[in-house]
Amino acid sequence: MKTFIQSLPKVELHIHIEGSLEPELLFSLAQRNQISLPYASPEALRKAYEFEDLQSFLDIYYQGAGVLQQKQDFYDLTWAYLQRCKQDNVIHTEIFFDPQTHTDRGVAFETVIEGIDAALKAGQQQLGISSNLIMCFLRHLSEEQAIETLRQALPYKDKIVAVGLDSSELGHPPEKFQRVFEQAREQGFLTVAHAGEEGPAQNIVDSIELLGVSRVDHGVRCVDSESLLARLIASKMPLTVCPLSNIKLCVFDNMQQHNIVELLRQGVAVTINSDDPAYFGGYMTDNFNAVANAHTITMQELAQFTINAIEASFISDSQKQAYRLLVDRYLEKAALI
Ligand code: HPA
Ligand code: ZN
Repeated sequence: MKTFIQSLPKVELHIHIEGSLEPELLFSLAQRNQISLPYASPEALRKAYEFEDLQSFLDIYYQGAGVLQQKQDFYDLTWAYLQRCKQDNVIHTEIFFDPQTHTDRGVAFETVIEGIDAALKAGQQQLGISSNLIMCFLRHLSEEQAIETLRQALPYKDKIVAVGLDSSELGHPPEKFQRVFEQAREQGFLTVAHAGEEGPAQNIVDSIELLGVSRVDHGVRCVDSESLLARLIASKMPLTVCPLSNIKLCVFDNMQQHNIVELLRQGVAVTINSDDPAYFGGYMTDNFNAVANAHTITMQELAQFTINAIEASFISDSQKQAYRLLVDRYLEKAALI
């Protein structure tokens, strides 16, 4: 099963690029930008990655992002992530970035997006990995600040496919961002939102009804509402589930308790994603392996995660068809072995 998972074509739909900043790169960028760190070594930093909930992670994650200052830093960060994609047979990825984490520190919006975008273009040309970029608003900040961020993004509309909502879910419900999401949709952006990670099932309902999302990020608390579950199944609303993240942030006690396989079998369009791989212990292959090790699951079911992700992605129908064919061929070949 391990080799099947390793070579399975994968599509990632929930990855915060700032969350792919490995301690080693973090240290080398700190040195390059002459920033002193409160840790002695990358190993010491990694040891501090013990979280009890989302907020305890976010505090360390925003601190780590402080080493990102120049366009080259954002390029190097994104390029390192794309190398991991290549190793894991990720054929397409849709990447979140948090501009406010950087603009609030005086880094220009342009610096952030141009660094990331240049690496994504190189990833397409040199590694054959296709990608889309999703701009997230930090929900612990105000709606006015989100509106200002949307304004800053307008000159780069061609580089951003959708807007999303991340950071602290508790206390910052979807309705706080209803107007800015409406403005984003008017500008032609698709929308997604983190909901039902730590927050209630109602946040999933409100993300669909008030924010018009095309998919829900996390969404695992949907099981708390039977009517919502039925609605997700009937509407084929995708959930971008992040198994290792959910264990690290104590959303579930352990991987055996995780509901992703049950949701898949109930017909929910669940996908597997890494969220913040440098902080949560692994990239795409690691997440697939963690699920397969904790649950009895077939090759067909594992491939279904990719098929669901292809369907849920923001690529053209012809690209979807080409990627589905890749998975079909891979499954046919695997059945012969
Ligand atoms: N949830 C909310 N905000 C985030 C996350 C997450 O898992 N990762 C990075 N920002
Ligand atoms: Zn996330």
